[in-house]
Amino acid sequence: MEKEDIYILAVESSCDETAASVVRNGREVLSNVIYSQIDLHTLYGGVVPEIASRKHIEKVNQVIEKALSDAGITLKEVTAVAVTYGPGLVGALLVGVSAAKAIAFAADKPLVGVHHIEGHISANYIENKELEPPFICLVVSGGHSHLVVVKDYGEYEIIGRTRDDAAGEAFDKIARAIGLGYPGGPKIDKVSKEGNPDAIRFPRAKVDGSTYDFSFSGLKSAVLNYLNSCEMKGIAVNQADVAASFQKAVIDVLVGHSMDAVSQYHFKKFAIAGGVASNTSLRAAFEKACREKGLEFYHPSPVYCTDNAAMIGVAGYYEYCKGTRHGWDLNAVPNLKLGERI
Ligand code: KG4
Ligand code: ZN
Repeated sequence: MEKEDIYILAVESSCDETAASVVRNGREVLSNVIYSQIDLHTLYGGVVPEIASRKHIEKVNQVIEKALSDAGITLKEVTAVAVTYGPGLVGALLVGVSAAKAIAFAADKPLVGVHHIEGHISANYIENKELEPPFICLVVSGGHSHLVVVKDYGEYEIIGRTRDDAAGEAFDKIARAIGLGYPGGPKIDKVSKEGNPDAIRFPRAKVDGSTYDFSFSGLKSAVLNYLNSCEMKGIAVNQADVAASFQKAVIDVLVGHSMDAVSQYHFKKFAIAGGVASNTSLRAAFEKACREKGLEFYHPSPVYCTDNAAMIGVAGYYEYCKGTRHGWDLNAVPNLKLGERI
């Protein structure tokens, strides 16, 4: 008997992107609709949670309808509805969770809650059809910096995490400090191309006793101190050099920790995920490091690195296949832990 196709309708609204997608059989993205609120939040220099929630409410139904129509299917043909229920901004998450629950209930479809980071990791399956666990994945986004052993679909062990700022947060803060504005990551990425990454030697932080943990607050302070001392001495700051030197300090630590982990755990496959994973210098550095170590290197296209619902559809598919089902009491869990079932 031929296996029936599984269509997952996925919704993502954990931060400032309202997104919906239809994914067939786990790895085929039929539609990927993203409404980005970035322009709105740029006015305030960062994401304003209240504004994000309101905009999600305005957009969520439109985005879901477009995802279905772009995919050329009707709600009736959907197998299950997947939605990010944490971690993220509680008000923002609630919009997606409520919309997904309402749709699943009305159409009599199973509901599958998905962890946002599981989504980011799963983005790697979209364009790398041959990729299967186990592998190690570095997840670097605006809210997270995790080194994760992906043991199996839906089975994770976090072996390293940030002690303070997430990598993306550090990019955003430094971008603001050097006058690039929000969102910082893509701007630092671009400006760095004009700068010298060895112009200023910023610290590469080690965390005592935790080989794979990260800390970016010392680096952030070092950049701010450098900017202050330039100002006091009346020395003009070379924005591109600061950006490139800061970026290199972050990348050196991310690559160093990741490669140590891959060696110690004896994996042959390494992947990156999350918004910062779209950084061009970071991708080049990992490409080189993996080549030198004879590792297979996986990374999603930039559109699947930053927040999107296709990655939630992929993770939702594997959760669905494992039998994960959520009830109509599913709630937003802003600090949901990876691997935790609620
Ligand atoms: O994964 P994501 O879209 O949202 C979260 O789950 O946090 O990540 C957003 C973060 C922001 O901090 C943004 O500045 C950063 O990813 N980012 C980048 C780049 N593009 C986005 N950081 C460095 N280089 C980039 N090209
Ligand atoms: Zn994200």
